[in-house]
Amino acid sequence: MVAVVQTVAFEGVDARTVDVQVQITDGIAAFTVVGLPDKAVSEARERVRAALKGIGLSLPPGRITVNLSPADLPKEGSHYDLPVALAIMTAMDVLSPDDLGGRFAMGELGLDGSLRPVAGALVAAMHAAGCDMGLVCAEASGPEAAWAGENVDIIAAPNLLSLLSHLKGRQMLLPPVAAAIEDAEITADMIDIKGQESAKRALEVTAAGGHNMLMMGPPGSGKSMLASRLPGILPPLEAREALEGWMVASLAGELLGGNVTRTRPFRDPHHSASMPAIIGGGQRAKSGEVSLAHGGVLFLDELPEFSRQTLEALRQPIESGRAVIARAAAHVTYPARFQLLAAMNPCRCGYLGDVTQACNRAPRCAADYQGKISGPLYDRFDICVDVPQVSASDLHLPPPAEGSAEIAARVKLARNIQLERFAAMAPGQQPVMNAQLDGKLLEAIAGPDKAGRALLLSATESMRLSARGYHRVLRVARTLADLAGDANVLKVHIAEALSYRRLSPHALK
Ligand SMILES: Nc1ncnc2c1ncn2[C@@H]1O[C@H](COP(=O)(O)OP(=O)(O)O)[C@@H](O)[C@H]1O
Ligand SMILES: [Mg+2]
Repeated sequence: MVAVVQTVAFEGVDARTVDVQVQITDGIAAFTVVGLPDKAVSEARERVRAALKGIGLSLPPGRITVNLSPADLPKEGSHYDLPVALAIMTAMDVLSPDDLGGRFAMGELGLDGSLRPVAGALVAAMHAAGCDMGLVCAEASGPEAAWAGENVDIIAAPNLLSLLSHLKGRQMLLPPVAAAIEDAEITADMIDIKGQESAKRALEVTAAGGHNMLMMGPPGSGKSMLASRLPGILPPLEAREALEGWMVASLAGELLGGNVTRTRPFRDPHHSASMPAIIGGGQRAKSGEVSLAHGGVLFLDELPEFSRQTLEALRQPIESGRAVIARAAAHVTYPARFQLLAAMNPCRCGYLGDVTQACNRAPRCAADYQGKISGPLYDRFDICVDVPQVSASDLHLPPPAEGSAEIAARVKLARNIQLERFAAMAPGQQPVMNAQLDGKLLEAIAGPDKAGRALLLSATESMRLSARGYHRVLRVARTLADLAGDANVLKVHIAEALSYRRLSPHALK
Protein backbone atom coordinates (compact mmCIF):
# COMPACT_ATOMS: atom_id res chain seq x y z
CA MET A 1 0.00 0.00 0.00
CA VAL A 2 1.15 3.54 -0.68
CA ALA A 3 0.29 6.12 1.97
CA VAL A 4 0.04 9.76 0.88
CA VAL A 5 0.17 12.94 2.92
CA GLN A 6 0.16 16.30 1.20
CA THR A 7 2.45 19.22 1.92
CA VAL A 8 3.73 22.24 0.04
CA ALA A 9 6.90 23.37 -1.70
CA PHE A 10 7.65 27.07 -2.04
CA GLU A 11 8.49 28.79 -5.30
CA GLY A 12 8.93 32.47 -4.52
CA VAL A 13 5.75 33.54 -2.76
CA ASP A 14 3.81 30.76 -4.46
CA ALA A 15 3.24 27.39 -2.88
CA ARG A 16 2.82 24.14 -4.81
CA THR A 17 1.20 21.00 -3.55
CA VAL A 18 3.60 18.13 -2.96
CA ASP A 19 2.52 14.55 -2.33
CA VAL A 20 4.62 12.69 0.21
CA GLN A 21 4.20 9.04 -0.76
CA VAL A 22 5.46 6.28 1.48
CA GLN A 23 5.73 2.62 0.67
CA ILE A 24 6.93 -0.06 3.06
CA THR A 25 7.97 -3.32 1.46
CA ASP A 26 9.78 -6.44 2.58
CA GLY A 27 13.49 -6.55 2.03
CA ILE A 28 16.72 -5.38 3.52
CA ALA A 29 16.06 -2.58 6.03
CA ALA A 30 16.48 0.81 4.33
CA PHE A 31 14.99 4.26 4.50
CA THR A 32 15.33 6.33 1.34
CA VAL A 33 13.94 9.69 0.31
CA VAL A 34 13.67 10.43 -3.41
CA GLY A 35 12.21 13.31 -5.41
CA LEU A 36 14.94 15.96 -5.48
CA PRO A 37 15.36 16.41 -1.73
CA ASP A 38 18.03 18.81 -0.48
CA LYS A 39 20.25 18.01 2.50
CA ALA A 40 17.69 19.18 5.07
CA VAL A 41 14.99 16.99 3.53
CA SER A 42 17.26 13.94 3.37
CA GLU A 43 18.12 14.41 7.01
CA ALA A 44 14.40 14.22 7.83
CA ARG A 45 14.96 10.44 7.98
CA GLU A 46 16.95 10.67 11.18
CA ARG A 47 14.60 13.14 12.86
CA VAL A 48 11.52 11.13 11.88
CA ARG A 49 13.05 7.86 13.10
CA ALA A 50 13.91 9.42 16.48
CA ALA A 51 10.60 11.27 16.84
CA LEU A 52 8.57 8.12 16.15
CA LYS A 53 10.68 6.24 18.64
CA GLY A 54 9.91 9.05 21.11
CA ILE A 55 6.20 8.21 20.95
CA GLY A 56 6.85 4.52 21.20
CA LEU A 57 6.78 3.57 17.53
CA SER A 58 9.67 1.71 15.98
CA LEU A 59 10.05 1.83 12.24
CA PRO A 60 8.95 -1.45 10.71
CA PRO A 61 11.62 -3.79 9.37
CA GLY A 62 11.94 -3.63 5.60
CA ARG A 63 12.36 -1.04 2.92
CA ILE A 64 10.81 2.38 3.49
CA THR A 65 10.68 4.49 0.36
CA VAL A 66 9.58 8.09 0.57
CA ASN A 67 8.82 9.78 -2.74
CA LEU A 68 8.21 13.49 -2.94
CA SER A 69 6.07 14.14 -5.98
CA PRO A 70 6.21 15.94 -8.42
CA ALA A 71 9.68 14.50 -8.58
CA ASP A 72 11.22 17.26 -10.72
CA LEU A 73 10.44 20.07 -8.27
CA PRO A 74 13.32 20.76 -5.86
CA LYS A 75 12.32 20.19 -2.21
CA GLU A 76 14.06 22.34 0.33
CA GLY A 77 13.83 22.91 4.04
CA SER A 78 12.95 21.03 7.18
CA HIS A 79 9.16 21.31 6.94
CA TYR A 80 8.91 17.88 5.26
CA ASP A 81 9.60 16.11 8.58
CA LEU A 82 5.99 16.14 9.72
CA PRO A 83 4.36 14.98 6.46
CA VAL A 84 6.97 12.21 6.15
CA ALA A 85 6.26 11.07 9.72
CA LEU A 86 2.49 11.19 9.18
CA ALA A 87 2.75 9.28 5.90
CA ILE A 88 4.89 6.60 7.57
CA MET A 89 2.36 6.32 10.39
CA THR A 90 -0.40 5.93 7.81
CA ALA A 91 1.58 3.23 6.00
CA MET A 92 2.04 1.51 9.39
CA ASP A 93 -1.74 1.68 9.97
CA VAL A 94 -1.26 3.83 13.08
CA LEU A 95 -3.30 6.49 11.30
CA SER A 96 -6.06 5.86 8.81
CA PRO A 97 -5.92 7.70 5.49
CA ASP A 98 -8.98 9.75 6.53
CA ASP A 99 -7.59 10.91 9.86
CA LEU A 100 -5.85 13.91 8.32
CA GLY A 101 -9.09 14.81 6.57
CA GLY A 102 -7.95 17.04 3.72
CA ARG A 103 -5.16 18.92 5.43
CA PHE A 104 -1.67 19.79 4.33
CA ALA A 105 1.05 19.06 6.87
CA MET A 106 4.22 21.03 7.52
CA GLY A 107 6.64 21.22 10.43
CA GLU A 108 10.06 20.28 11.70
CA LEU A 109 10.45 17.48 14.23
CA GLY A 110 12.77 17.44 17.19
CA LEU A 111 14.31 14.14 18.25
CA ASP A 112 11.87 14.07 21.20
CA GLY A 113 8.86 14.36 18.91
CA SER A 114 8.32 18.06 19.50
CA LEU A 115 7.04 20.11 16.58
CA ARG A 116 9.04 23.17 15.65
CA PRO A 117 7.86 26.17 13.66
CA VAL A 118 9.16 26.63 10.12
CA ALA A 119 9.20 29.56 7.75
CA GLY A 120 6.29 29.95 5.35
CA ALA A 121 3.33 28.91 7.53
CA LEU A 122 1.20 31.81 6.29
CA VAL A 123 2.01 31.05 2.65
CA ALA A 124 1.14 27.37 3.19
CA ALA A 125 -2.12 28.28 4.93
CA MET A 126 -3.08 30.67 2.11
CA HIS A 127 -2.37 27.90 -0.39
CA ALA A 128 -4.52 25.57 1.70
CA ALA A 129 -7.33 28.13 1.62
CA GLY A 130 -7.07 28.26 -2.17
CA CYS A 131 -7.26 24.46 -2.41
CA ASP A 132 -10.15 24.16 0.07
CA MET A 133 -7.90 22.28 2.43
CA GLY A 134 -6.75 22.64 6.02
CA LEU A 135 -3.27 22.66 7.56
CA VAL A 136 -1.47 20.79 10.31
CA CYS A 137 1.50 22.69 11.70
CA ALA A 138 3.52 23.32 14.84
CA GLU A 139 1.79 25.10 17.70
CA ALA A 140 4.21 28.00 17.38
CA SER A 141 3.25 28.44 13.71
CA GLY A 142 -0.47 28.57 14.55
CA PRO A 143 -0.86 32.31 15.17
CA GLU A 144 0.88 33.01 11.85
CA ALA A 145 -1.10 30.44 9.84
CA ALA A 146 -4.38 31.62 11.35
CA TRP A 147 -4.01 34.88 9.37
CA ALA A 148 -5.13 32.94 6.30
CA GLY A 149 -8.71 33.24 7.55
CA GLU A 150 -11.24 31.53 9.75
CA ASN A 151 -12.43 29.11 7.11
CA VAL A 152 -9.06 27.34 6.94
CA ASP A 153 -9.15 24.44 9.36
CA ILE A 154 -5.81 24.60 11.16
CA ILE A 155 -4.45 22.16 13.72
CA ALA A 156 -1.45 23.55 15.58
CA ALA A 157 0.12 20.89 17.80
CA PRO A 158 3.03 21.19 20.22
CA ASN A 159 4.27 17.66 19.53
CA LEU A 160 3.62 14.50 17.59
CA LEU A 161 1.88 12.75 20.49
CA SER A 162 -0.72 15.46 21.07
CA LEU A 163 -1.31 15.64 17.32
CA LEU A 164 -1.94 11.90 17.24
CA SER A 165 -4.34 12.16 20.19
CA HIS A 166 -6.19 15.00 18.49
CA LEU A 167 -6.51 13.17 15.19
CA LYS A 168 -7.79 10.09 17.03
CA GLY A 169 -10.27 12.23 18.97
CA ARG A 170 -8.79 11.42 22.37
CA GLN A 171 -7.68 14.90 23.35
CA MET A 172 -8.72 18.04 21.50
CA LEU A 173 -6.33 20.87 20.65
CA LEU A 174 -7.69 24.40 20.58
CA PRO A 175 -7.70 26.06 17.15
CA PRO A 176 -5.00 28.72 16.87
CA VAL A 177 -5.88 32.39 17.11
CA ALA A 178 -4.39 34.93 14.72
CA ALA A 179 -1.80 37.06 16.49
CA ALA A 180 -2.51 40.73 17.01
CA ILE A 181 -1.40 43.42 14.59
CA GLU A 182 1.43 45.21 16.28
CA ASP A 183 2.21 48.51 14.67
CA ALA A 184 5.72 49.56 15.49
CA GLU A 185 6.10 52.78 17.37
CA ILE A 186 8.39 55.11 15.50
CA THR A 187 10.38 57.30 17.81
CA ALA A 188 12.55 59.17 15.31
CA ASP A 189 10.76 62.46 14.68
CA MET A 190 11.35 65.17 12.09
CA ILE A 191 11.24 67.70 14.90
CA ASP A 192 14.80 66.71 15.82
CA ILE A 193 16.16 68.01 12.52
CA LYS A 194 17.36 71.60 12.54
CA GLY A 195 17.47 73.53 9.29
CA GLN A 196 17.64 71.32 6.13
CA GLU A 197 14.32 72.74 4.96
CA SER A 198 14.77 71.72 1.33
CA ALA A 199 15.76 68.17 2.23
CA LYS A 200 12.75 67.87 4.52
CA ARG A 201 10.47 69.16 1.79
CA ALA A 202 11.95 66.63 -0.65
CA LEU A 203 11.41 63.84 1.87
CA GLU A 204 7.76 64.84 2.19
CA VAL A 205 7.33 64.78 -1.60
CA THR A 206 9.07 61.41 -1.74
CA ALA A 207 6.72 60.01 0.88
CA ALA A 208 3.63 61.47 -0.75
CA GLY A 209 4.21 60.03 -4.21
CA GLY A 210 6.28 56.94 -3.47
CA HIS A 211 9.30 58.33 -5.31
CA ASN A 212 12.96 57.34 -5.26
CA MET A 213 15.25 59.84 -3.63
CA LEU A 214 19.00 60.47 -3.45
CA MET A 215 20.59 62.69 -0.83
CA MET A 216 24.10 64.01 -1.34
CA GLY A 217 26.09 65.95 1.21
CA PRO A 218 29.15 66.05 3.43
CA PRO A 219 29.55 63.66 6.37
CA GLY A 220 27.61 64.61 9.48
CA SER A 221 25.12 66.81 7.67
CA GLY A 222 22.21 64.64 8.73
CA LYS A 223 21.55 62.36 5.75
CA SER A 224 21.18 59.16 7.76
CA MET A 225 19.15 61.12 10.29
CA LEU A 226 16.76 62.36 7.61
CA ALA A 227 16.38 58.87 6.14
CA SER A 228 15.45 57.34 9.47
CA ARG A 229 12.56 59.85 9.68
CA LEU A 230 10.91 58.63 6.47
CA PRO A 231 8.97 55.69 8.02
CA GLY A 232 7.43 58.12 10.52
CA ILE A 233 5.72 60.15 7.81
CA LEU A 234 4.48 57.25 5.68
CA PRO A 235 0.90 56.06 6.14
CA PRO A 236 0.34 52.44 7.22
CA LEU A 237 0.20 49.70 4.59
CA GLU A 238 -3.03 49.11 2.68
CA ALA A 239 -4.57 45.70 3.31
CA ARG A 240 -3.43 44.21 -0.01
CA GLU A 241 0.12 45.53 0.27
CA ALA A 242 0.29 44.31 3.85
CA LEU A 243 -0.69 40.77 2.88
CA GLU A 244 1.90 40.63 0.09
CA GLY A 245 4.55 41.87 2.51
CA TRP A 246 3.54 39.34 5.16
CA MET A 247 3.90 36.52 2.63
CA VAL A 248 7.49 37.54 1.93
CA ALA A 249 8.20 37.97 5.63
CA SER A 250 6.62 34.58 6.35
CA LEU A 251 8.93 32.83 3.87
CA ALA A 252 11.91 34.68 5.29
CA GLY A 253 10.98 33.35 8.73
CA GLU A 254 10.34 36.86 10.03
CA LEU A 255 6.74 36.19 11.07
CA LEU A 256 7.52 33.36 13.47
CA GLY A 257 5.33 34.10 16.45
CA GLY A 258 2.70 35.50 14.14
CA ASN A 259 2.99 39.16 14.97
CA VAL A 260 2.26 41.12 11.85
CA THR A 261 2.55 44.83 11.35
CA ARG A 262 1.06 47.44 9.06
CA THR A 263 4.02 49.73 9.55
CA ARG A 264 5.81 50.10 6.25
CA PRO A 265 9.08 48.18 6.23
CA PHE A 266 12.29 50.16 6.31
CA ARG A 267 15.27 48.05 5.31
CA ASP A 268 18.76 49.45 5.50
CA PRO A 269 21.25 46.77 4.48
CA HIS A 270 24.93 47.48 5.03
CA HIS A 271 26.96 48.23 1.92
CA SER A 272 28.99 45.07 2.38
CA ALA A 273 25.85 42.96 1.80
CA SER A 274 26.17 40.56 -1.12
CA MET A 275 24.03 40.67 -4.22
CA PRO A 276 21.91 37.64 -3.22
CA ALA A 277 21.27 39.30 0.15
CA ILE A 278 19.97 42.43 -1.53
CA ILE A 279 18.26 41.15 -4.68
CA GLY A 280 17.52 37.61 -3.54
CA GLY A 281 19.01 34.30 -4.57
CA GLY A 282 21.56 31.98 -3.06
CA GLN A 283 21.24 28.26 -2.86
CA ARG A 284 17.57 28.31 -1.92
CA ALA A 285 16.55 31.32 -4.02
CA LYS A 286 15.57 33.26 -0.92
CA SER A 287 14.07 36.71 -1.04
CA GLY A 288 16.42 39.65 -0.70
CA GLU A 289 16.19 43.04 0.94
CA VAL A 290 14.34 44.47 -2.07
CA SER A 291 11.46 42.07 -1.38
CA LEU A 292 11.55 42.46 2.38
CA ALA A 293 11.16 46.18 1.67
CA HIS A 294 8.01 45.52 -0.42
CA GLY A 295 5.51 48.31 0.19
CA GLY A 296 8.10 50.27 2.15
CA VAL A 297 11.54 51.78 1.90
CA LEU A 298 14.92 50.37 0.91
CA PHE A 299 17.57 52.70 2.28
CA LEU A 300 21.05 52.39 0.85
CA ASP A 301 23.37 54.52 2.94
CA GLU A 302 26.78 55.31 1.39
CA LEU A 303 25.46 54.29 -2.03
CA PRO A 304 28.78 54.25 -3.97
CA GLU A 305 30.22 51.78 -1.46
CA PHE A 306 27.81 49.06 -2.63
CA SER A 307 29.26 46.74 -5.21
CA ARG A 308 28.69 47.79 -8.77
CA GLN A 309 27.08 44.47 -9.59
CA THR A 310 24.51 44.94 -6.81
CA LEU A 311 23.68 48.47 -7.85
CA GLU A 312 23.15 47.49 -11.46
CA ALA A 313 21.01 44.54 -10.44
CA LEU A 314 18.72 46.96 -8.59
CA ARG A 315 17.60 48.56 -11.80
CA GLN A 316 15.31 45.75 -12.83
CA PRO A 317 13.25 45.51 -9.59
CA ILE A 318 13.00 49.32 -9.47
CA GLU A 319 11.32 49.31 -12.86
CA SER A 320 9.21 46.18 -12.62
CA GLY A 321 8.38 45.98 -8.91
CA ARG A 322 9.48 42.34 -8.90
CA ALA A 323 12.70 40.52 -8.19
CA VAL A 324 13.23 37.66 -10.60
CA ILE A 325 15.83 35.14 -9.51
CA ALA A 326 17.11 32.73 -12.10
CA ARG A 327 17.60 29.17 -10.93
CA ALA A 328 18.96 26.23 -12.81
CA ALA A 329 15.51 24.84 -13.55
CA ALA A 330 13.16 27.81 -13.33
CA HIS A 331 12.70 31.45 -12.36
CA VAL A 332 11.51 32.45 -8.94
CA THR A 333 9.69 35.74 -8.54
CA TYR A 334 9.19 37.80 -5.41
CA PRO A 335 7.27 41.06 -5.17
CA ALA A 336 9.66 44.01 -4.76
CA ARG A 337 7.79 47.30 -5.04
CA PHE A 338 9.80 49.59 -2.81
CA GLN A 339 10.86 53.20 -2.58
CA LEU A 340 14.59 53.57 -2.99
CA LEU A 341 16.16 56.07 -0.66
CA ALA A 342 19.91 56.56 -0.95
CA ALA A 343 22.51 58.75 0.68
CA MET A 344 26.07 59.47 -0.37
CA ASN A 345 28.96 61.80 0.22
CA PRO A 346 29.90 63.86 -2.84
CA CYS A 347 33.45 62.46 -2.89
CA ARG A 348 35.62 60.08 -0.91
CA CYS A 349 36.79 62.63 1.68
CA GLY A 350 33.27 64.06 1.71
CA TYR A 351 34.18 67.72 1.73
CA LEU A 352 33.99 68.61 -1.94
CA GLY A 353 33.50 72.35 -2.36
CA ASP A 354 34.67 73.15 1.14
CA VAL A 355 37.97 74.95 0.60
CA THR A 356 39.22 74.38 4.13
CA GLN A 357 38.46 70.70 4.36
CA ALA A 358 38.50 69.23 0.86
CA CYS A 359 41.39 66.92 0.04
CA ASN A 360 43.92 67.93 -2.54
CA ARG A 361 42.45 65.65 -5.18
CA ALA A 362 39.24 67.70 -5.50
CA PRO A 363 37.42 68.04 -7.81
CA ARG A 364 38.80 65.05 -9.65
CA CYS A 365 37.96 62.65 -6.82
CA ALA A 366 34.29 63.68 -6.98
CA ALA A 367 34.01 62.59 -10.59
CA ASP A 368 35.55 59.24 -9.67
CA TYR A 369 33.39 58.73 -6.62
CA GLN A 370 30.10 59.86 -8.14
CA GLY A 371 30.97 57.96 -11.29
CA LYS A 372 30.62 54.71 -9.36
CA ILE A 373 26.89 55.15 -9.82
CA SER A 374 25.93 54.46 -13.40
CA GLY A 375 23.91 56.88 -15.49
CA PRO A 376 20.88 54.54 -15.69
CA LEU A 377 20.80 54.31 -11.90
CA TYR A 378 20.99 58.11 -11.47
CA ASP A 379 18.18 58.30 -13.98
CA ARG A 380 15.94 56.26 -11.67
CA PHE A 381 16.07 58.77 -8.85
CA ASP A 382 13.08 61.07 -9.22
CA ILE A 383 14.35 63.39 -6.55
CA CYS A 384 17.96 64.35 -5.85
CA VAL A 385 18.74 66.83 -3.13
CA ASP A 386 21.87 68.38 -1.71
CA VAL A 387 22.10 68.13 2.04
CA PRO A 388 24.61 70.84 2.99
CA GLN A 389 26.39 71.06 6.33
CA VAL A 390 24.17 72.66 8.98
CA SER A 391 25.63 75.83 10.38
CA ALA A 392 26.19 76.36 14.08
CA SER A 393 23.52 79.05 14.09
CA ASP A 394 21.03 76.57 12.60
CA LEU A 395 21.81 74.10 15.36
CA HIS A 396 21.01 76.76 17.93
CA LEU A 397 17.59 77.42 16.47
CA PRO A 398 14.56 76.35 18.50
CA PRO A 399 13.00 73.09 17.22
CA PRO A 400 10.95 73.46 14.03
CA ALA A 401 7.24 74.16 14.43
CA GLU A 402 6.10 70.92 12.88
CA GLY A 403 7.12 67.35 13.46
CA SER A 404 6.43 64.02 11.79
CA ALA A 405 2.73 63.98 12.76
CA GLU A 406 1.89 67.15 10.81
CA ILE A 407 3.91 66.08 7.79
CA ALA A 408 2.38 62.59 7.89
CA ALA A 409 -1.09 64.13 7.80
CA ARG A 410 -0.27 66.02 4.59
CA VAL A 411 1.32 62.92 3.07
CA LYS A 412 -1.79 60.90 3.89
CA LEU A 413 -4.05 63.51 2.25
CA ALA A 414 -1.93 63.51 -0.90
CA ARG A 415 -1.94 59.71 -1.00
CA ASN A 416 -5.72 59.61 -0.59
CA ILE A 417 -6.11 62.02 -3.52
CA GLN A 418 -3.99 59.65 -5.63
CA LEU A 419 -5.97 56.57 -4.61
CA GLU A 420 -9.34 58.19 -5.29
CA ARG A 421 -8.24 59.57 -8.64
CA PHE A 422 -6.76 56.23 -9.64
CA ALA A 423 -9.97 54.40 -8.68
CA ALA A 424 -12.00 56.87 -10.76
CA MET A 425 -9.75 56.71 -13.85
CA ALA A 426 -8.81 53.04 -13.84
CA PRO A 427 -11.58 51.19 -12.03
CA GLY A 428 -10.82 47.60 -11.16
CA GLN A 429 -7.05 47.96 -11.47
CA GLN A 430 -4.69 47.69 -8.56
CA PRO A 431 -4.04 51.23 -7.33
CA VAL A 432 -0.53 52.63 -7.66
CA MET A 433 1.20 55.74 -6.38
CA ASN A 434 2.22 58.58 -8.69
CA ALA A 435 5.75 57.18 -8.87
CA GLN A 436 4.48 54.10 -10.72
CA LEU A 437 2.10 55.76 -13.16
CA ASP A 438 2.85 54.85 -16.73
CA GLY A 439 1.83 55.25 -20.34
CA LYS A 440 -1.56 56.68 -21.17
CA LEU A 441 -2.62 56.94 -17.57
CA LEU A 442 0.42 59.08 -16.75
CA GLU A 443 -0.41 61.43 -19.61
CA ALA A 444 -4.03 61.63 -18.52
CA ILE A 445 -3.32 62.12 -14.84
CA ALA A 446 -0.17 64.21 -14.92
CA GLY A 447 -0.44 66.17 -18.19
CA PRO A 448 0.65 69.74 -17.31
CA ASP A 449 -1.03 72.99 -18.38
CA LYS A 450 0.22 74.95 -21.38
CA ALA A 451 2.87 76.97 -19.53
CA GLY A 452 4.03 73.84 -17.69
CA ARG A 453 4.34 71.92 -20.93
CA ALA A 454 6.38 74.69 -22.54
CA LEU A 455 8.76 74.72 -19.59
CA LEU A 456 9.07 70.95 -19.61
CA LEU A 457 9.81 70.93 -23.34
CA SER A 458 12.57 73.48 -23.11
CA ALA A 459 14.04 71.81 -20.04
CA THR A 460 14.02 68.43 -21.75
CA GLU A 461 16.19 69.96 -24.46
CA SER A 462 18.55 71.92 -22.26
CA MET A 463 18.90 69.31 -19.52
CA ARG A 464 19.03 66.50 -22.08
CA LEU A 465 16.44 64.53 -20.16
CA SER A 466 15.94 60.94 -21.22
CA ALA A 467 12.41 59.72 -21.93
CA ARG A 468 12.55 58.08 -18.51
CA GLY A 469 13.71 61.35 -16.95
CA TYR A 470 10.91 63.23 -18.70
CA HIS A 471 8.28 60.88 -17.29
CA ARG A 472 9.81 60.99 -13.84
CA VAL A 473 9.59 64.78 -13.83
CA LEU A 474 5.89 64.49 -14.71
CA ARG A 475 5.30 62.06 -11.86
CA VAL A 476 7.02 64.25 -9.29
CA ALA A 477 5.12 67.29 -10.58
CA ARG A 478 1.87 65.37 -10.13
CA THR A 479 2.79 64.65 -6.51
CA LEU A 480 3.64 68.31 -5.93
CA ALA A 481 0.23 69.29 -7.30
CA ASP A 482 -1.44 66.70 -5.04
CA LEU A 483 0.38 68.07 -2.00
CA ALA A 484 -0.77 71.55 -2.93
CA GLY A 485 -4.32 70.31 -3.54
CA ASP A 486 -4.25 71.42 -7.19
CA ALA A 487 -6.31 69.43 -9.66
CA ASN A 488 -3.95 70.25 -12.53
CA VAL A 489 -0.21 70.12 -12.87
CA LEU A 490 0.96 73.72 -13.20
CA LYS A 491 4.19 75.39 -14.25
CA VAL A 492 5.32 75.84 -10.62
CA HIS A 493 5.06 72.12 -10.05
CA ILE A 494 7.06 71.34 -13.20
CA ALA A 495 9.67 73.89 -12.14
CA GLU A 496 10.06 72.39 -8.69
CA ALA A 497 10.13 68.86 -10.11
CA LEU A 498 12.89 69.89 -12.53
CA SER A 499 14.92 71.31 -9.66
CA TYR A 500 15.05 67.82 -8.14
CA ARG A 501 16.51 66.30 -11.30
CA ARG A 502 20.22 65.75 -11.26
CA LEU A 503 22.39 65.25 -14.24
CA SER A 504 24.66 62.30 -13.77
CA PRO A 505 28.36 63.16 -13.59
CA HIS A 506 28.78 61.03 -16.72
CA ALA A 507 26.78 63.63 -18.62
CA LEU A 508 28.82 66.48 -17.20
CA LYS A 509 32.21 65.20 -18.26
N1 LIG B 1 20.15 69.04 10.78
C1 LIG B 1 20.52 68.50 11.94
N2 LIG B 1 19.87 68.81 13.07
C2 LIG B 1 20.25 68.27 14.25
N3 LIG B 1 21.27 67.40 14.39
C3 LIG B 1 21.97 67.06 13.31
C4 LIG B 1 21.63 67.59 12.02
N4 LIG B 1 22.49 67.08 11.14
C5 LIG B 1 23.31 66.25 11.81
N5 LIG B 1 23.01 66.24 13.11
C6 LIG B 1 23.72 65.48 14.15
O1 LIG B 1 24.82 64.85 13.52
C7 LIG B 1 24.74 63.43 13.67
C8 LIG B 1 25.24 62.74 12.43
O2 LIG B 1 24.32 62.86 11.39
P1 LIG B 1 24.16 61.76 10.26
O3 LIG B 1 22.76 61.75 9.84
O4 LIG B 1 24.71 60.47 10.72
O5 LIG B 1 25.09 62.39 9.15
P2 LIG B 1 25.44 61.80 7.72
O6 LIG B 1 24.67 60.55 7.51
O7 LIG B 1 25.05 62.88 6.77
O8 LIG B 1 26.91 61.60 7.71
C9 LIG B 1 23.30 63.14 13.99
O9 LIG B 1 23.16 62.01 14.75
C10 LIG B 1 22.88 64.38 14.75
O10 LIG B 1 23.22 64.26 16.11
MG1 LIG C 1 25.40 58.66 7.27
